[in-house]
Amino acid sequence: MSHIKIQTEIPGPKSQALFRERQREVARGPFHVTPIFAARTNGTTIEDVDGNHFIDFAAGIGVVNLGHRNERVMDAICAEREKSLHLSFNVTPYESYVRLCQKLNESTPGSFSKKTFLANSGAEAVENAVKMARAFTKRQAVISFEHGFHGRTYLAMTLTSKGLYRQGFGPFASEVYTAAFPYVYRWPTGGNRQEVADACFREFENLVKIRILPSHVAAVIFEPVQGEGGFLPMPREFAVKLRNFCTEHQIVLIADEIQCGFGRTGTLFACEQLGIEPDLLTSAKGLGGGMPISAVTGRSEIMDAPVEGAIGGTFGGHPLSCAAALAVFREFETSDALDKAKALGVVLEKRMYHWLEVFPRVGDVRGMGPMLAIELVTDKSSKTPDAAAAKKLVQYCYTHGVIVMSSGSFGNAIRFLMPLTIDSESLAEGLDVVEAGLAELHQ
Ligand SMILES: Cc1ncc(COP(=O)(O)O)c(C=O)c1O
Repeated sequence: MSHIKIQTEIPGPKSQALFRERQREVARGPFHVTPIFAARTNGTTIEDVDGNHFIDFAAGIGVVNLGHRNERVMDAICAEREKSLHLSFNVTPYESYVRLCQKLNESTPGSFSKKTFLANSGAEAVENAVKMARAFTKRQAVISFEHGFHGRTYLAMTLTSKGLYRQGFGPFASEVYTAAFPYVYRWPTGGNRQEVADACFREFENLVKIRILPSHVAAVIFEPVQGEGGFLPMPREFAVKLRNFCTEHQIVLIADEIQCGFGRTGTLFACEQLGIEPDLLTSAKGLGGGMPISAVTGRSEIMDAPVEGAIGGTFGGHPLSCAAALAVFREFETSDALDKAKALGVVLEKRMYHWLEVFPRVGDVRGMGPMLAIELVTDKSSKTPDAAAAKKLVQYCYTHGVIVMSSGSFGNAIRFLMPLTIDSESLAEGLDVVEAGLAELHQ
């Protein structure tokens, strides 16, 4: 049975009418992957307002890792609703906030004593992690990486490397520096993973030792797999050196696992596969299973650096979001979601390496576990990024019933962020559509 149902032109008439209203009533800034207005969701499918059904390979930008409206998450939200809606942890604390912090302390990498702070969005977690690092070290500089993305608030935006997200918004936060990322496919002098990791780390050391000075650096923030950057995995070799360097110079190492955490790479956290323990770890997206919540988790002494009252917020760690996040943990603990994620990675990788072999415009396949992307180029030898092809492929897919997103600094990567629990028939059907779209690009 097909999971795709297309019964109107895409976008359908109701979506088109709503889109006209959106243009009139909503600010221009928020982008849309598709012009399709959603009506309802179920597991791995989205039904639009015109009755069309799509297989979802985007999962709300890597949020509903356990599927849309996961039963356990929904039950937890409904049960919590009967007890309270909003309280504010700053007024009358509640147990679920503490229990969730406890879960995060237990499950994030690192055997040292940990504490957690809850907020609402990924950007807010990043901001707070940097505040903690600065308060703890009494230093100012923060280093992030090229192609990285950390959010849209002022500091998070400054830490983000893509110009589009910063356009017209200066002046930016001060004392933020950008280091080169070991982007193996596009490293200017070429080389294999180890060679690129070594060369890139030499650049990193020069930046810190010569330009900034280690004693001035509060924190280094990195994504174990860059999300918006086009699913660029940080080579393990580089991550280990970075960890050692930060330890040697008492710099706080912050892993931003907002997109790559919560099973997205086949383990609960991607750092597990890098074999390193960050001092602080930010999570959001998959943590709430569809509810807005984010967290900073890390070494107790760093987490406790800001004085009482210096961090917090009205909604941070909202009761419904805490209930949902605790259900996400229960699901990971008691179901085979991580095994499914690993198996998904194997299927995806096989299909993508086949595309790399047969399609001249597929230049690279990379990622970690099921967090995989392909990069589209005009031809394999020049590696010229082909953002127009990525745009066409995304459009081909949604007009044929699959929702998929592009990413990358050059806009030419196609990232795969389907729910990790996707059934094999929907997965195969969706991948066939992507493959047909790739074939059309080559005609
Ligand atoms: C790695 C990473 N950090 C931070 C953010 C910002 O999260 P939010 O959009 O919830 O503020 C994102 C969002 O895509 C992200 O992928």
